Amino acid sequence: MERTLSIVKPDAVGKNLTGAILEKIEGSGLQIIALRRVLLSQSQAEAFYAVHRERPFYKSLVEFMTSGPVVVTALQGDNAIQRYRDLMGATNPEEAAEGTIRKLYASNIENNAVHGSDAPETAAAELAFFFRDLDYA
Ligand code: CMP
Repeated sequence: MERTLSIVKPDAVGKNLTGAILEKIEGSGLQIIALRRVLLSQSQAEAFYAVHRERPFYKSLVEFMTSGPVVVTALQGDNAIQRYRDLMGATNPEEAAEGTIRKLYASNIENNAVHGSDAPETAAAELAFFFRDLDYA
C-alpha cells in the first residue's frame, strides 16, 4: 500500500469539476482516505511549490494556486503514486493521453486541473503539508 497527495486546482474547482475528478479517482480503484477544501495563502503556496522557486513560472503558479479554493485529498492503493500520475496525464494537457484528467479538464500547462506527488519522498512531505495522522480514516 502506498499513499499520494492529490490537489484539485482552482481552475477545476471553479468549474465545478471536483466531483467529476474525484469520481475518476475512485473509479480507478484508488481510495480517498482524507479530504480538505482549502484556500491557500500566498506563503503556503510558495512553501508548497518551493522546489520550483527558481523557475520562470513560479510567481504565476503561486498566483494561480491562491486564486481560489483547492480540494486536497490523500489517496491510497498499491503503487498509488504512479497510478495517480498515469490517471492525471502529462503536465501539459496538449501532451496528455486520451481519457486522462488533464486531457479532459485542463486548460493549459499552468491551469492543469490537478497536482499529484511525483515520488515517495515528495508524497510523504506533501501529505504532511496538509494532513495530520488523525485525518486519515
Ligand atoms: P504540478 O504538477 O502541480 O507541478 C508544478 C506546476 O507548475 C505544474 O503542475 C503546473 O501547474 C505548473 N507548470 C509546470 N510547468 C510550467 C510551465 N512551463 N509554465 C507554467 N506553469 C508550469
